[in-house]
Amino acid sequence: MHTPAITTWVLITGASSGFGEEFARQYARQGHSLVLVARRLDRLQALAGELRRQFNVEVVVEQVDLSDIPAIVQLHQRLHERGIAIEILVNNAGHGLQGPFIDSKLEAALAMVQLDIASLTAVTHIFAQDMRTRGRGKILLVASLLALQGTVNFAVYSAAKAYVLRFGEALHREFKRDGITVTSLCPGMSDTGFAAAANQKITPGLKLLMMQPAPVVRAGIRALAAGRISVVPGLPNKFSALFMWATPRWLHQALFARAMGA
Ligand SMILES: NC(=O)c1ccc[n+]([C@@H]2O[C@H](COP(=O)([O-])OP(=O)(O)OC[C@H]3O[C@@H](n4cnc5c(N)ncnc54)[C@H](OP(=O)(O)O)[C@@H]3O)[C@@H](O)[C@H]2O)c1
Repeated sequence: MHTPAITTWVLITGASSGFGEEFARQYARQGHSLVLVARRLDRLQALAGELRRQFNVEVVVEQVDLSDIPAIVQLHQRLHERGIAIEILVNNAGHGLQGPFIDSKLEAALAMVQLDIASLTAVTHIFAQDMRTRGRGKILLVASLLALQGTVNFAVYSAAKAYVLRFGEALHREFKRDGITVTSLCPGMSDTGFAAAANQKITPGLKLLMMQPAPVVRAGIRALAAGRISVVPGLPNKFSALFMWATPRWLHQALFARAMGA
């Protein structure tokens, strides 16, 4: 049986599927204790049971709707009362939204802004306070490759992820003096439940670029451990990022729109 060597606590938001579930597996393999947060309790409990058996680590399950800011404050309070100090925070929960902005429901757009921007900001603010008091901590923010440009049919999503990326870049420097590392992960199209939840069309171009969650998460964990400001996982995504940086907006936006099936 695997004997845990490290007992630091990692909190993962959106741990019930996709990247979050994979973050839980990889950090459990390293021997970390975990706090798993999402709304689907059955999935969190099944994952927790599996990780406890497989890696002999402590796992705490927290069913929380992160769009509710007071619920985030209560989550922090419950963990504090149990003496759980979060050393690594993985701000991963989020959902997508695809389609022409004007045709989408305003409530859906605002719900995404709430979760991807407001809740992520609140979780970071609340848990970074404890990290500052202890003089150490690590925060990973899951942004997206779409943070690098306003993308047709992903107007609110790409804008929300641009917020996450800029927020992370600013905090990377700001928190350095407090001993806290902040890294932003910018995945491209990946094989999680995300595309289905966002009603996203998978074009042949996107299929070619599609990554599995494991290497994406590995790249995020490595970049955070190395104290990098941000990381784009996978060679094709790195080329896309370089292409966006090196070409005028009208050109890369037009090509991306085609690849995304717009
Ligand atoms: N997959 C991609 O192609 C891709 C690319 C770039 C970036 N990303 C980003 O990666 C992150 C994870 O997405 P994923 O691809 O792993 O998709 P996913 O499989 O759909 O996972 C999303 C996670 O977020 C949780 N979540 C959603 N709303 C929540 C809420 N109100 N409160 C608490 N938890 C909530 C979900 O859990 P419950 O439903 O159980 O609450 C789920 O665990 C997101 O931030 C996404 O924007 C994904």
